[in-house]
Amino acid sequence: MTKNPTNGHAPAGNGTRRHLRSQDWFNNPHNPGMTALYMERYLNFGLTRAELQSGKPIIGIAQTGNDLSPCNRHHIELAHRVREGIREAGGIAMEFPTHPIQETGKRPTAALDRNLAYLGLVEVLYGYPLDGVVLTTGCDKTTPACMMAAATVNLPAIVLSGGPMLNGWHNGERTGSGTIVWKSRERLAAGEIDYEEFMEIVASSAPSVGHCNTMGTASTMNGLAEALGFSLPGCAAIPAPYRERGQIAYETGKRIVEMVWEDLKPSDILTRKAFENCIVINSAIGGSTNAPIHINALARHIGVELSIDDWQKIGHDVPLLVNMQPAGFYLGEEFHRAGGVPAVVRELMKHKRIHEDAVTVNGRGIGDNCKNAPAPDNDVIWAYDKPLVKDAGFLVLRGNLFDSAIMKTSVISKEFRDRYLSNPKDLNAFEGRAVVFEGPEDYHARIDDASLDIDEHCVLFIRGTGPIGYPGGAEVVNMQPPAALIKRGILSLPCIGDGRQSGTSGSPSILNASPEAAANGGLAILRTGDKVRIDLNKGSANILISEEELKKRHAELKAAGGFKHPPNQTPWQEIYRSTVGQQSTGACMELATRYQNVASA
Ligand code: FES
Ligand code: MG
Repeated sequence: MTKNPTNGHAPAGNGTRRHLRSQDWFNNPHNPGMTALYMERYLNFGLTRAELQSGKPIIGIAQTGNDLSPCNRHHIELAHRVREGIREAGGIAMEFPTHPIQETGKRPTAALDRNLAYLGLVEVLYGYPLDGVVLTTGCDKTTPACMMAAATVNLPAIVLSGGPMLNGWHNGERTGSGTIVWKSRERLAAGEIDYEEFMEIVASSAPSVGHCNTMGTASTMNGLAEALGFSLPGCAAIPAPYRERGQIAYETGKRIVEMVWEDLKPSDILTRKAFENCIVINSAIGGSTNAPIHINALARHIGVELSIDDWQKIGHDVPLLVNMQPAGFYLGEEFHRAGGVPAVVRELMKHKRIHEDAVTVNGRGIGDNCKNAPAPDNDVIWAYDKPLVKDAGFLVLRGNLFDSAIMKTSVISKEFRDRYLSNPKDLNAFEGRAVVFEGPEDYHARIDDASLDIDEHCVLFIRGTGPIGYPGGAEVVNMQPPAALIKRGILSLPCIGDGRQSGTSGSPSILNASPEAAANGGLAILRTGDKVRIDLNKGSANILISEEELKKRHAELKAAGGFKHPPNQTPWQEIYRSTVGQQSTGACMELATRYQNVASA
């Protein structure tokens, strides 16, 4: 297949058009029987035979919005503008639903459904007469699920973010999605507010359609989709209700038709350079600890080498530029007004941190797209030389507790640094007594149990919360200290676990530990009362026990049949658990990574 020479424009005429796969369904004279069958049912919603057999690109709109997914529901409206753009550019739109994933509504975890939505979308993109697809993204897992499927199938694809909600306000102060929950639950535990006020404050953070308005996993993943070149420039940050959101939906619809003619595919965009840009931009925006899981999964599905260590190697020394909760102060509206992702990219370009020639969906390099973006305003977007936090990327830790776990350094508070990391003899390291919880239910039942004797010299552990243990991986590692400690002003203890934590959390947890306890990783042999030592400079995390004791405990675990997880509640949980990999490598459905370029199969 040749690329259309009129790059960026609709083809001049039928003579220059490439053959589209949808015509194998709708216009195949070698197989009239099947062609007629494929075609007749699509005529009955008003499409004409001439339209279906004209060779116009058929563009799928992967609709992630529905009543169960309020964060993405706005896409039901936006899809009208997408259709108009597709039609305007000479394509035919066909909208279809994806498996719903609502981060705040799905039991036991929304993450369990990322691979299910991925799987469903791969099958739709492969099995139906589609030449390209608009991916409607928003709530946390919807973005990676859609991007991963497009990567596997490798059809021309473009991301349309739904955009964040408007800012939340309560008593004259900004209330940010998720972040306000973590803050207010401390106040609830300390007795400063009651149940009613707690509910009211949290509700105030969700004032309109859209996804989380903090730099949680949703804003992160949509920002990173743009960083990868997978959406039109400026797309990620536009708040959902703004008129620009409808306008970019229209432009996105127009552009996908051109991409089909140009045969501009995910594999042309998702290159190693694009992933390196993505890691750098994630540090600068203060992105979620869920990003490495989803981005590493995406890299595997498109066939690009990317490791968990790359996140520290490429991203750790990048400064935090975006002053947005949970690492900073503002919310989505201010970030958009300050220039969004392009403004961040432009500032990083000035310091040679961006591969400017990485191709994006509009056919131009990211450098070209962002060179005229606004300069830092030093309030919402800070300058590279005077950032909010230096060296703001992730640290990767390893030792006898796990082969890898990450820590988001941009959210380590001064209180935490002073208490745990500032002993001049032992800078950036701490030792403590382990208190181990078997999942979130156990944590909630026992955290205030006085017999545990939890004080500021303890390290809280939670296990059984990885992709296999608590299927999908629970966002629970940011554990709150016992109420008695909070009343003494100790707002955070070091927390470590094989689960994840919400991107809206400002907790300096060590998380995403791989292998998880349920895969018999080091966390599985940890006991309450063990001494542990964490050294951020050396990147180490160890139980302070002898080699013999370590071996003995692992042998005992093996003899007992390994670490136990709760029974499966649904058939998908069984399939998921038996196919999922660990978080360090993306928690992919392992067998799926063997399938690439599926559309051409
Ligand atoms: Fe859907 Fe945060 S809960 S975006
Ligand atoms: Mg979340």
